Amino acid sequence: MNKDKQARSISVTNGPSFLSTPDHSILDDLEVQGIEVEYHCREGFCGACRCKLISGEVDYTLDPLAFIDDDEILPCCTIPITDITLAI
Ligand code: FES
Repeated sequence: MNKDKQARSISVTNGPSFLSTPDHSILDDLEVQGIEVEYHCREGFCGACRCKLISGEVDYTLDPLAFIDDDEILPCCTIPITDITLAI
């Protein structure tokens, strides 16, 4: 089984924890949970969706062009490859 296809735990600081949906971006999963995240392009260009990755690892589904700090990710174009904790 491809490890990237497994459901992973996504925890939001001061928020809920839930399982990711394989083949869906972290942004998609956050929206399903009713967690509001700013976004615009949904394709890694604008950086509007960036949030802090507190723990865990993600993989990008495309090459992002937006500038982000080392501890930030773009949930619109990432999937979790380990259990993760985010600060939004
Ligand atoms: S919504 Fe534009 S980079 Fe994520």
